[in-house]
Amino acid sequence: MKILALIFFQYCLFSGSYYASAADTLAPAQSLRNGSTLVSPGQIFELGFFSPVNSNKYYLGIWYKRLPDTVVWVGNRENPVIDSHAFLNISSTGYLFIFDGQNTMIWSANSSRSANNPVAQLLDSGNLVVKDEDTDEETESYLWESFDFPTDTQLPGMKIGRNFKTGVNLYLRARKGVNDPSPGDFTYGIEHNGLPQFFLRAGMKKRFRGGPWNGIRFGGLPPQEGPLTVCVFVFNTEEVYRSYEVVDKSVIMRFTVNESGLLERRVLYENTSEWTTMFTLQNDKCDDYAQCGPNGVCKIKQRPICECLEGFIPRSEREWRELNWTGGCVRSTPLDCRKREGFLQVENVKLPDLLDFKLDNRLNLEDCRAECLKNCSCTAYARSNYNGSGCLMWFGELTDIREFIVEQFDQNIYVRLPASEVELHSNKEDLELPLFDFVTIASATNNFSDSNKIGTGGFGLVYKGELFEGQEIAVKRLSSNSRQGVEHFKNEVAMISKLQHRNLVRLLGYCIKRDERMLIYEFMPNRSLNYFIFDETRRNVLTWPKRFEIIMGISRGLLYLHQDSRLRIIHRDLKTSNVLLDNELNPKISDFGIAKMFGGDQVEAKTKRVFGTYGYMSPEYAIDGKFSVKSDVFSLGVLLLEIVSGKRNRGFNHPDHYHNLLGHAWLLWNDEKAMELMDRCSEDSCVEEQVVRCILVGLLCVQKHVEDRPTMSCVVRMLDNEEIATSLPRPKEPGFYVERSSGDTNAVGLHTQPSTENALTLTQEEGR
Ligand SMILES: *[C@@H]1O[C@H](CO)[C@@H](O)[C@H](O)[C@H]1NC(C)=O
Ligand SMILES: *[C@@H]1O[C@H](CO)[C@@H](O)[C@H](O)[C@H]1NC(C)=O
Ligand SMILES: *[C@@H]1O[C@H](CO)[C@@H](O)[C@H](O)[C@H]1NC(C)=O
Ligand SMILES: *[C@@H]1O[C@H](CO)[C@@H](O)[C@H](O)[C@H]1NC(C)=O
Ligand SMILES: *[C@@H]1O[C@H](CO)[C@@H](O)[C@H](O)[C@H]1NC(C)=O
Ligand SMILES: *[C@@H]1O[C@H](CO)[C@@H](O)[C@H](O)[C@H]1NC(C)=O
Ligand SMILES: *[C@@H]1O[C@H](CO)[C@@H](O)[C@H](O)[C@H]1NC(C)=O
Ligand SMILES: *[C@@H]1O[C@H](CO)[C@@H](O)[C@H](O)[C@H]1NC(C)=O
Ligand SMILES: *[C@@H]1O[C@H](CO)[C@@H](O)[C@H](O)[C@H]1NC(C)=O
Ligand SMILES: *[C@@H]1O[C@H](CO)[C@@H](O)[C@H](O)[C@H]1NC(C)=O
Repeated sequence: MKILALIFFQYCLFSGSYYASAADTLAPAQSLRNGSTLVSPGQIFELGFFSPVNSNKYYLGIWYKRLPDTVVWVGNRENPVIDSHAFLNISSTGYLFIFDGQNTMIWSANSSRSANNPVAQLLDSGNLVVKDEDTDEETESYLWESFDFPTDTQLPGMKIGRNFKTGVNLYLRARKGVNDPSPGDFTYGIEHNGLPQFFLRAGMKKRFRGGPWNGIRFGGLPPQEGPLTVCVFVFNTEEVYRSYEVVDKSVIMRFTVNESGLLERRVLYENTSEWTTMFTLQNDKCDDYAQCGPNGVCKIKQRPICECLEGFIPRSEREWRELNWTGGCVRSTPLDCRKREGFLQVENVKLPDLLDFKLDNRLNLEDCRAECLKNCSCTAYARSNYNGSGCLMWFGELTDIREFIVEQFDQNIYVRLPASEVELHSNKEDLELPLFDFVTIASATNNFSDSNKIGTGGFGLVYKGELFEGQEIAVKRLSSNSRQGVEHFKNEVAMISKLQHRNLVRLLGYCIKRDERMLIYEFMPNRSLNYFIFDETRRNVLTWPKRFEIIMGISRGLLYLHQDSRLRIIHRDLKTSNVLLDNELNPKISDFGIAKMFGGDQVEAKTKRVFGTYGYMSPEYAIDGKFSVKSDVFSLGVLLLEIVSGKRNRGFNHPDHYHNLLGHAWLLWNDEKAMELMDRCSEDSCVEEQVVRCILVGLLCVQKHVEDRPTMSCVVRMLDNEEIATSLPRPKEPGFYVERSSGDTNAVGLHTQPSTENALTLTQEEGR
């Protein structure tokens, strides 16, 4: 483009009057003619007439003084002057006019109000303003400013957005061509029909969508803050707009929509004269609006890039094969709204366009789900606000969903599926349990910080957390890479969500993020039983009455599992670390990761993969993989003896013999010295008859032969009822009572070599 100003400069330099054009203001008596320009005070921007290359049209424009080729604003882009004698002047009322050589008005910029002493000034921000010299600079608002009439460039400090009161819409409009600054097809601005979204349109057609504002960001735009820039976003009842500021004033920056619709922020450093692209908003094909049609998801790393949402199939198989995705997808099974429908979580995506939708700012994610489920035509829901509550519900088709490449934001959508599909995708099952989203859990646990870690288990880590409302939770984060973790999760959820008992820990909900699964429990402030019972000092808290209560509580919990609930559940991993204590030290059985449900009249099962914990497993389970309610009873017996004695069965040491705790208890019993098993600390408070009864029941529970062990209902009756105590059977020798020969700390009379065929997988006892 040829810049008249430059030519004029050369002329000026020759004539020695260089400063002639250095003014930054234009007053009513003056005019700006083809050769002269205004230059902003800091020599940053310049205003004047320019004519594009190979063109005889003249435009009033603003460009960088350093880079005259980069025009950032054009006044009369729709009304070029075909006359080099055109000039700009300002009327005494403050209107800007462009006249051609014949004094015909070509263009005007009308001020909002009249002024006594108007003057046009080009500011260092690149804003051409009309102001009243008579008003105080501080309080003045401009009569007119070019920032209110953006062309294809958003400079720092310039707003893009809408004023709801005045109806003014500030948006960018691309030029027609590189050498044609007249208005092109592409526009970029904020649209607002509930939540603000940025749209690039070509004419009326949507071409790119920035995703709805989610309280923190536009959930479809790359992060735009950086060391050099600060983003400003204002959204209230009066207006919605976005602008940005440059931190370092020596850096020149601009955001543009180019003639082909590319949106980018570019920067010019002081030391170069080349623009550098900081970022572009569109980066791949998945950014094209509705690339995959209705109900399709665009995944840029896949080939082909389009796939249907789960539960959907291509509308036309043929078109889809030909990589024509415009037809999108339809449901493989229609929703019928009667049977038990559910939702499938689609993670890390740009939320679909807000076409037919409802926004409810009061609902949290869980209520959102319930609300969506209530209305048969609700097809999906999502969290609308990551900075508070808010619910988006879609009705009808889901358009323009893309998967993000990098995890920019934990933005998920929950797509409604008929019952049959929910089952089909049961590895991401929709459970009858509250679903927590990852952001909530991450913020509750300070991003899973070490200081929130309260335990390590065989299947993952446990964190303490606090929800927004102040409720304390325990989050078990299952190892994402382990298949066991997934199994554990499914099992635990399936079991425990159906159970309710005061001696079972309560599962509050779950959270799924990609391959990772988390279980959210009520928080138990007093940790687990092993933390107290095996500790020299903490043990003192557990007086005999408290211990007896704990024993009764665990027994009732187990009784419920075995026969009082709707199901029959074998826990398989009962141990002190799986008995949690609430604020009153009431016991709650936890960890149903390897529990098994028995149907109908099933009494026993056999497994090739033995999971459990040394010291608590019954012989038939550890050796043959056989488990039943009676293998749980064995573990309970161990627990009982541990609670009474304050010693671990595993690793028990006695100077006189090589027996473990079970053997030791049995020896004492036979010598009628059972009371010696009692841990000294709580002797004072103990009720001897109760202690002896607990030891006896404990020994009966750990009998070697399954048929010699009582059922849980018997156990509870025996513990509860003093009368029967005297008529109880004499215990025979316990199973696994001979401890190590020497030095071997693992084996409790069983082989631990895992073979491929008969893997024996044992978890070490660890605190929660
Ligand atoms: C500016 O206008 C003058 C006439 O007023 C004309 O002679 C001159 O050629 C013009 N300059 C350019 C660069 O067109
Ligand atoms: C514009 O400025 C020219 C030259 O100063 C003057 O002759 C003309 O009257 C002005 N026109 C208007 C509308 O102010
Ligand atoms: C601005 O003022 C001029 C002259 O008074 C008038 O011809 C024109 O229509 C006005 N434009 C607008 C948008 O009001
Ligand atoms: C969240 O909302 C509060 C109040 O509405 C606001 O002050 C805060 O800046 C917001 N946080 C973010 C990250 O937007
Ligand atoms: C505009 O963007 C397109 C990409 O869509 C690019 O090929 C072209 O070079 C850009 N034009 C300019 C002038 O930067
Ligand atoms: C110019 O300055 C920028 C920022 O200070 C720096 O990153 C860049 O390397 C420099 N470029 C040259 C060519 O010196
Ligand atoms: C793609 O399919 C649509 C119908 O879904 C059709 O209208 C369009 O012409 C097809 N495009 C091409 C390039 O075949
Ligand atoms: C379901 O939602 C749609 C859209 O908001 C609404 O028109 C319809 O009345 C609702 N149906 C019921 C049963 O609430
Ligand atoms: C958690 O991580 C996110 C993103 O990494 C960060 O924005 C946030 O400030 C972090 N929150 C806490 C409490 O550390
Ligand atoms: C158990 O937890 C409650 C509540 O946090 C606490 O007040 C109490 O001191 C704890 N008891 C023991 C023995 O630590």
